[in-house]
Amino acid sequence: MGFQNGENVASDLLKAQSHIWNHIFNFINSMSLKCVVDLGIPDIIHNYGKPMSLSKLISSLPIHPSKQSDIPRLMRITTHSGFFSQHNVTENELEIEYVLTDASRLLLKDNPMSVAPFLQGILDPTMTSPFHQMSTWYKNDDPTPFKTTHGITVWEYAATEPRYNKMMNDAMASDARLVNTVVIEECKEMFNGLESLVDVGGGTGTMGKALAKSFPQLECIVFDRPHVVDGLQGSDNLKYVGGDMFDKIPPTDAILLKWILHDWNDEECVKILKKCKDAIAKKGKEGKVIIIDTVVENDNENHEAFETQLFLDMLMMVIVNGKERTKKEWIDLIFSAGFTDYKITPILGLRSVIEIYP
Ligand SMILES: C[S@@+](CC[C@H](N)C(=O)[O-])C[C@H]1O[C@@H](n2cnc3c(N)ncnc32)[C@H](O)[C@@H]1O
Repeated sequence: MGFQNGENVASDLLKAQSHIWNHIFNFINSMSLKCVVDLGIPDIIHNYGKPMSLSKLISSLPIHPSKQSDIPRLMRITTHSGFFSQHNVTENELEIEYVLTDASRLLLKDNPMSVAPFLQGILDPTMTSPFHQMSTWYKNDDPTPFKTTHGITVWEYAATEPRYNKMMNDAMASDARLVNTVVIEECKEMFNGLESLVDVGGGTGTMGKALAKSFPQLECIVFDRPHVVDGLQGSDNLKYVGGDMFDKIPPTDAILLKWILHDWNDEECVKILKKCKDAIAKKGKEGKVIIIDTVVENDNENHEAFETQLFLDMLMMVIVNGKERTKKEWIDLIFSAGFTDYKITPILGLRSVIEIYP
């Protein structure tokens, strides 16, 4: 095929090709980052205590000698993606020194808010292989590409595969550690006047434990499926209860739904919210449900944040038959479940705190 209108057409064509290539190769960013974490590179640089030369880093890595000359390539791409920065840039690449960035510090294994378990959970082949089945799923009547791939829903999979159950519980707990730090510091007043709280779908209790410790007046219940909470030990003001939120939620003053509603379709969310409304009925108008979830917003100012929200939305479609919602979709959901008022506080980066009142 020849170029019809000279140079501009050629340059547009090449730009289009480059755009496509970038999207084809996007997964290489994810997989290179996973490799860096698997090899423990952020921890090794951190433990070195000062900028670390590439030669020193290579000699510290648990790799086969024949692969040492391939480490500079891994460092080059992950530095380009913002996970390391370079000091002492010289002609000899082995003398270039590396330091961590804010993003790689958040991947350190010992950082209590580490995102590393979340990375391992989301990039596990169990979670990435359903993306190969998206077009098949569009043509069949399965609820999710996850089911098309694995033959069962993600919830059934978690209940029957202990490795996956642990990996996802760890992934969720790592996110909860980061979120609870912000919520407890920035939203203290949200818990004023409450004597009890149920963290519905609270996983292994990371958020519940932090709330119980910070607000000793609060009787906390972590409510989740029995395979998640069975055998977990509570404390003075924290209890674990196994059950099904579609069936009955223990009575309480307030409910926390962190990263729950985006797992479900609108009809299911209305059912969950109605069960929440029943559970807080004893507190009358003073009861509340605190939702922590994404409010999708394209304000044209933060392209990366909007793209991450779109990634999360596709993840919800592929894995759980859920979705990320716009403000209008949240309001429709809240009023359809019989709540009468709401307050959205966008203090969690990509996510918001949404308080809803009966
Ligand atoms: C995305 S995780 C969120 C965990 C936790 N809230 C957090 O953000 O760290 C969803 C949680 O909902 C729980 N879950 C799923 N179905 C449930 C049900 N029918 N009743 C109670 N919990 C359920 C899962 O076991 C899982 O712990």
